[in-house]
Amino acid sequence: MIQGPEPEATRRKAGATESSRANRRWWDRNADDYQREHGGFLGDAGFVWGPEGLDEAAAGLLGPVAGLAGKAVLEIGSGAAQCSRWLAARGARPVALDLSLRQLQHARRIDGQARESGSDRESGSAGRGGAAGPALVQADAGHLPFADASFDLACSAYGALPFVADTARVHREVARVLRPGGRWVFSVTHPVRWAFPDEPGEEGLTASASYFDRTPYVEQDARGLAVYVEHHRTLGDRVREITAAGLRLVDLVEPEWPAWNTQEWGGWSPLRGRLLPGTAIFCCVRD
Ligand SMILES: C[S@@+](CC[C@H](N)C(=O)[O-])C[C@H]1O[C@@H](n2cnc3c(N)ncnc32)[C@H](O)[C@@H]1O
Repeated sequence: MIQGPEPEATRRKAGATESSRANRRWWDRNADDYQREHGGFLGDAGFVWGPEGLDEAAAGLLGPVAGLAGKAVLEIGSGAAQCSRWLAARGARPVALDLSLRQLQHARRIDGQARESGSDRESGSAGRGGAAGPALVQADAGHLPFADASFDLACSAYGALPFVADTARVHREVARVLRPGGRWVFSVTHPVRWAFPDEPGEEGLTASASYFDRTPYVEQDARGLAVYVEHHRTLGDRVREITAAGLRLVDLVEPEWPAWNTQEWGGWSPLRGRLLPGTAIFCCVRD
């Protein structure tokens, strides 16, 4: 295969359409590598909130496990739907939504393997989220194709929000599709990381950019077309977007790097994790 030149990394404006198009293609191209590299850490039916390895079974951020049975759950930016499979195994009825067709094809692959090995039945999953796997939907997080008040819970482990230009819109969409009292829990790169190079080693320990600079990180091709985009919000921005959407922030979890985790994940490493927060998990409720 003929490879093109390496994309150029820059900081410039990138709107909703350009970001969505670039990231859909990027995730389609990179889904195989992502699942090969991180699938083992995530577990086919695991619920991990981020590279620190914080597990929903231990964290309980979605509420007591016993309360998940029968709940309609929307997972946003699901990738291969590992979290949805964990939820299904606890009796929930998850819908896994992602922008990337290739990521969702990996979800189907894992579901097919589980069916062949019978592990979906052994793990106790049943119904819509069980033998058939979670329902899968290809859509943009900014345009949720669901009726108002159709979910009891919404969650996202690093899905969509770091990549979306109009994150306020995503929160409004989630508030719209949640029933009153429903929780919205999502993890993103901790905003503090924006000021540091995305490197796991010593070079990632020296601030080199402004935490306050919201200019997107863009990788672009030789014609100047974005091929990958990340958007930054400060902690205050996130809180204001959440509350403006009619949601109430009830907790902000900053997982510490545990001693057992010796694995690097891109710029997340034990070295940096001991000194700096790497993930922020926002727990919100729709009143
Ligand atoms: C870092 S991965 C996380 C996937 C999964 N939650 C996990 O923990 O492995 C980010 C996911 O967000 C998806 N994504 C990016 N932009 C999106 C958007 N605008 N709407 C929906 N999903 C999006 C990507 O396709 C990708 O699968």
